[in-house]
Amino acid sequence: MKITVIGSGYVGTTTALVLADLGHEVISYDVDKLKIKRLNDAILPFSEPGLDRLLQKLLQSGRIIFSSDSQTAITQSEMLMISVGTPSTSSGNADLTYIQQVLEVIATHINGPKIIITKSTVPIGTNRWMKQQLEAKIDTNKYPIEVVSNPEFLREGSALHDSYHPSRTVIGGEEHSAIEKVKQIYSSLGTSYFTCNYETAEMIKYASNGFLAVKISYINEIARLADLVGADIEGVAAGMGMDPRISPHHLYAGIGYGGSCFPKDVDELLYLAKQKKINLGLLKQGKRINDSQIAWFVQKIESHLSLEGKRILVLGVAFKEDTDDQRESPGVRLIEHLLDKGVDEIRVIDPTVTSLEQIHWSKNLNNNDSQRVNIFTKEDEAAIGVHAVVLTTTWSQFATYPWADWVTKVESPYLFDGRNFLNPQEMQHYGWNYVGVARSVLK
Ligand SMILES: NC(=O)c1ccc[n+]([C@@H]2O[C@H](COP(=O)([O-])OP(=O)(O)OC[C@H]3O[C@@H](n4cnc5c(N)ncnc54)[C@H](O)[C@@H]3O)[C@@H](O)[C@H]2O)c1
Repeated sequence: MKITVIGSGYVGTTTALVLADLGHEVISYDVDKLKIKRLNDAILPFSEPGLDRLLQKLLQSGRIIFSSDSQTAITQSEMLMISVGTPSTSSGNADLTYIQQVLEVIATHINGPKIIITKSTVPIGTNRWMKQQLEAKIDTNKYPIEVVSNPEFLREGSALHDSYHPSRTVIGGEEHSAIEKVKQIYSSLGTSYFTCNYETAEMIKYASNGFLAVKISYINEIARLADLVGADIEGVAAGMGMDPRISPHHLYAGIGYGGSCFPKDVDELLYLAKQKKINLGLLKQGKRINDSQIAWFVQKIESHLSLEGKRILVLGVAFKEDTDDQRESPGVRLIEHLLDKGVDEIRVIDPTVTSLEQIHWSKNLNNNDSQRVNIFTKEDEAAIGVHAVVLTTTWSQFATYPWADWVTKVESPYLFDGRNFLNPQEMQHYGWNYVGVARSVLK
């Protein structure tokens, strides 16, 4: 099938490459000319395991074209898959500016029947609105169009695996024939389809992310209590997760969730609830817990070590391992908290960061603050003279850092594990004063 994927970001590029690998003829289109140039030069504009190799392979095969030409993008394919960003506005609702721009481009260049497939996460009601917008702009007797909702569930860091092995493929629409055509795109994957109307498909995506966000906040709230009563939250989560009704997934206590999806999708649900004048108390509380989790952890650090004037090494600014995405990153927010506490120097190690300019602050840092942050790319030098190490992202290489050597180089051997990632007994054996999130350490 001929498919144009509109938007070549994390979702769009992954989807375009996987669809080309499945045998489709794909155009990956983006307004960002530099991004398209880099993709044509076989350079991924972001970091995602395995994707660079697939990019090289498919560029050679000629089954994928990267283009910033809107006319080519719209005219050459019958299937137009939208994967542009839908970030939050300051009011919490999703900003549909990019979706609106795509509708304009489709209306301008339409040259035949089109199926428009929405992969972007869009608020409930958007696909129906998109269809109405297009019907108002296009002579649909001449150029019939159909809009199909097909929300994406891939996770950054395991995007390829998730794309080849989707847990389900949700397809929301009104026209049976269009839904069947979208199913054909994925036919070689052997995926389970769930078909429904637009609103149900849109809500499945938001309700899934909202649920996972609340699940994380639930274990973090339990962790706050576990910490006070001597229960080990890792054991609690493991014991809970053995119950198939609960499952072990997303039961990780730590400094909270971040990324480009959970915070934004929770905000959109709360915004919609406010519009509809109902109170989603559980979701609201889940967000509150997440918003205060870093302050809770910093308070925990302060109960061991006064932060003013100290040198701290922070491990990780990506919002999770195996990605360079720092959108709503807890690691970045934690650094900002430490700066507010008067820390003298913050050293940062993250495998995807080599300079200070690569850190995406959540607020504007003043000059004085940014001068106190230093990026270290050599791990053996980073620990010299620090008063504490704080782990914020579960990059696998952090587990194999020279912890036994580092402990001899630090000013004071505090190790605050914001992800309960390291082995407490091992760290204690090396001489670290290990502090996790509600994690009991054998004395
Ligand atoms: N990142 C994830 O893990 C993930 C997972 C599931 C769903 N989603 C959803 O998928 C959507 C895309 O997310 P992302 O992380 O890939 O975003 P992204 O910011 O990485 O990529 C969006 C791309 O769209 C391009 N773009 C903007 N306007 C355009 C236009 N008018 N025409 C063509 N291209 C345009 C941008 O230049 C950018 O390259 C969002 O709605 C997001 O909520 C993301």
